Amino acid sequence: VEATLILVKPDGVARGLTGEILRRIEAKGYRLADLAYVHADRELLAAHYAEHEGKPFYEPLIEFMSSGPIVAIRAEGERVIEGFRVLAGTTDPTTAAPGTIRGDLGRDWGLRVQQNLVHGSDSVESAERELGLWFA
Ligand code: GTP
Ligand code: MG
Repeated sequence: VEATLILVKPDGVARGLTGEILRRIEAKGYRLADLAYVHADRELLAAHYAEHEGKPFYEPLIEFMSSGPIVAIRAEGERVIEGFRVLAGTTDPTTAAPGTIRGDLGRDWGLRVQQNLVHGSDSVESAERELGLWFA
């Protein structure tokens, strides 16, 4: 069965939205196969976001992601990778479609990084790589 890495980012945890986000994942029919409360260090975040190194939002992104606890989830189900990214909505929470996690619960806070509540792996290869990092 397909598996993906989902993260409730520090803004989601701090705003008390973890339960609401888990509820949406379960309501869609995906299985919560593993779950961890993580204070991510720079090393883990640098590995996780290696593809973004050098981009203007990279440093603020690493700072934001290390600013507080994260809830890491291994979710399983048929086409869960694609399915969760649809549940999450597009990257910019201001314009993400209503009905999605980012569209319903997120917005722009005028910061240097988009605080958009969740991460979901974007391919089978990323999911395998990211699950190995967060659930070593
Ligand atoms: P997708 O764009 O659908 O791939 O969502 P994603 O969450 O996978 O985003 P991506 O991998 O492109 O970028 C990782 C994270 O960096 C995002 O979730 C945002 O938090 C942040 N980010 C991405 N692009 C930008 C940007 O153009 N500006 C700012 N400020 N932050 C960004
Ligand atoms: Mg991406």
